[in-house]
Amino acid sequence: MVMETKRQNAYLVALQQSFQRDWEVEDNLAELKELAEDAGLHVVETFVQKRSYPDPGTFIGSGKALELGDIVEEDSLVIFDDELTPAQQGNLSDLIDAPVIDRTQLILDIFAQRAHSNEGKIQVELAQLNYLLPRLMGKGKALSRLGGGIGTRGPGETKLETDRRRIRKRISDLKKELEKIRQTRGLQREGRTHTAVPHVALVGYTNAGKSTLLKALTGSDVFVADQLFATLDPTIRRWDLKSGRWVYLSDTVGFIRKLPHTLVAAFQATLEEVVYADLLLHVIDASHPQSLEQKEAVEEVLKEIGAAAPVISVYNKIDLVEHPIDVPEPEQAISAKTGYQLDKLADAVDSFFAAGYSVKEYFFPYDKLGEASWLRNNAHVLGEEFVPEGVRITAEVDRRTANLLRVFEN
Ligand code: GTP
Repeated sequence: MVMETKRQNAYLVALQQSFQRDWEVEDNLAELKELAEDAGLHVVETFVQKRSYPDPGTFIGSGKALELGDIVEEDSLVIFDDELTPAQQGNLSDLIDAPVIDRTQLILDIFAQRAHSNEGKIQVELAQLNYLLPRLMGKGKALSRLGGGIGTRGPGETKLETDRRRIRKRISDLKKELEKIRQTRGLQREGRTHTAVPHVALVGYTNAGKSTLLKALTGSDVFVADQLFATLDPTIRRWDLKSGRWVYLSDTVGFIRKLPHTLVAAFQATLEEVVYADLLLHVIDASHPQSLEQKEAVEEVLKEIGAAAPVISVYNKIDLVEHPIDVPEPEQAISAKTGYQLDKLADAVDSFFAAGYSVKEYFFPYDKLGEASWLRNNAHVLGEEFVPEGVRITAEVDRRTANLLRVFEN
């Protein structure tokens, strides 16, 4: 039985500047609402304040802030859709007389709830401390208001001690620890690179269905949840394709619009998988009303992080779409849930990696086993047979390997 705890009330606030369209602000607020609810809050009301530019001291203007102060009920939280400066956050929390947080802090909080691995936890704590540090400068009052509930999860004790020097020391320790973990992961990746097994990374907006797809394609047991950012740590599985070739398939964190820059570092583990991948599978939730905007947001993040691998886009959740033909590329429509067209997707990935490769049969006498093991490390071995004189290996090789091993061809 799940214990029902009372959800904390939250009010959402966005600023609409002259260059922003109504729908843009509405979309952002709808997403902020989803995030807030995902973090366990109850959204009571949303407010939009029109101004030609943000007020440097109070973001929405002090008049509007005081007005909000009259509306906001006790023990509620006020969440701003944009990143606030530490000074704005302090002033707003004074004027409204309630704890004020911004989108970044909300996302950090969700991350803190979701991080499972040691590395994920360290990354989130680092991002939280980096966010916190400038907010400790002189604005003790604003901070002390962030008591109870959201915005206080994570660094916990450390945060409450609010000692800058201690936080700096903690940041530097965490960085060192992270560096060690990354070195190990780098070695693991190097191991994977040496076997010449291609690496495919799933990317997509949060909740698009990446984990479900990973599970459907590889038959592995992966945590799937109708939750934002359910996947914070990279999950890597072996995916066997029809040709006998296999690839590494990795799940990555879901992207989101207005991804705060302080959070990009917290994504690093999964972003590395994306940057080093040989092929990206971009999973788009075709049933989402904003699927095209989400697609663009993901493309934007990919550009920002320097992911240069070719991309195959797939339109997922097609089982929920009334007119599948309206999807931009119906032949790339899939359903991770029902399995629709997943074989077609597997074939597309198979042929992508087949280009430029050829299947060769080699024979290595026993005094040439060094060359045989080099082949094993640099090609897809499809078959191997030991005979009295040596070893016969059938492998799929690229042109360079084919040239180097020509003398051993059967
Ligand atoms: P993040 O971890 O937030 O990035 O999410 P994700 O992209 O890994 O999504 P996940 O696989 O967790 O799926 C999100 C929700 O969509 C779950 O409730 C899935 O059951 C559902 N879902 C995924 N694929 C399909 C599909 O093809 N059809 C339908 N109807 N639902 C799907």
